[in-house]
Amino acid sequence: MNTTITATAKYIPEKILSNFDLEKIVDTTDDWIKSRTGITKRHIVQEGEATSDMCANIAKKLLKSSGKTPEEIDIIIIATSTPDHFVVSTAAIVQDKIGAINAWGYDLTAACTGFIFALETGARLIESGKYKNAIIIGADTMSSIIDYKDRNTCVIFGDGGGGVLIEQTDDDYGIIDSILKTDGSGNQFLTVPAGGSRKPASETTVKQRLHYVYQDGKTVFKYAVNRMSEVSKEIIEKNKLSSHDIKLFIPHQANQRIIDATARKCGLDLDQVFVNIDKYGNTTAGTIPIAIDEANKMNLLESGELLLLAAFGGGFTWGSMLIRWGKML
Ligand code: UT7
Repeated sequence: MNTTITATAKYIPEKILSNFDLEKIVDTTDDWIKSRTGITKRHIVQEGEATSDMCANIAKKLLKSSGKTPEEIDIIIIATSTPDHFVVSTAAIVQDKIGAINAWGYDLTAACTGFIFALETGARLIESGKYKNAIIIGADTMSSIIDYKDRNTCVIFGDGGGGVLIEQTDDDYGIIDSILKTDGSGNQFLTVPAGGSRKPASETTVKQRLHYVYQDGKTVFKYAVNRMSEVSKEIIEKNKLSSHDIKLFIPHQANQRIIDATARKCGLDLDQVFVNIDKYGNTTAGTIPIAIDEANKMNLLESGELLLLAAFGGGFTWGSMLIRWGKML
């Protein structure tokens, strides 16, 4: 038995924050952002809108396009670094919002690699035979943890998310293989220093702006290119394929230069690589499922063709996943 994707969806908040808007807030320029990252705009939530709102929207779209009722859903896994609350999980809120009364679920935190980790987890649960389907979502409200006084981070990140419905199949398509990695020694290069049990929120942590994302961009950049290309090449070789066998490569959308360098190192041509970073920036756990939904809606993948995913993020975490595209419901 395999696990296959049978529906895809995304949610992008309406409100746009363009490079020109950012020029008015921090010392930056549209030219710098475009040339160093490839980003022209990102979307951010309205006041009061949270991660579970985006996820519920995505889950409802998945139900609609698959024709499933909320009661038929077995599992909900949400990859996010920006849950609505520390307690309770975003998955619990989404379960309630969509009326999935027979589902259980949980949140999974692996920063930008979260969606791939969640998809792996969901797929293996389904292959156990105990569960028929799962909703797997990657979504982040990065604007809730970004310092709009820090030009090193605020130009890169945006809000948004996407998701897939996965189900059992006896056909030979689906999630074929994955290589997943964690190296916690990289934790200091990309983190939110305060607000957890190490440094609980206090007047001092707020004054020191420690509740925002800190990133050593240069270090993360180098690791991202090397680690994503390593695991992508490894999974291609392990499955006795060549880069030409890959129909579509969807890498985490963190920086156009990271995407280009990774693809080059893997011997992939530009027309094999899906890029939408210009429109959304880096939506953390959201980038890959958003791209999967867009690729699906653009009919870029036919049944039987190979999709390769790769991500890198805080932790450090990274991984690649090989999928033989199946039939949508
Ligand atoms: O998704 C999780 C993983 N995250 C990533 O993969 C992000 C990885 N890192 C990056 O994408 C890049 O490192 C950044 C986009 C964050 C930064 O680009 P960079 O080419 O590495 O720039 P830099 O940090 O080396 O800075 C170059 C210069 C510096 O000025 P000086 O010291 O040369 O005078 C910075 O102060 O650019 C300056 N700078 C900016 N200038 C205008 C940094 N940010 C900005 C900005 N606008 N927003």
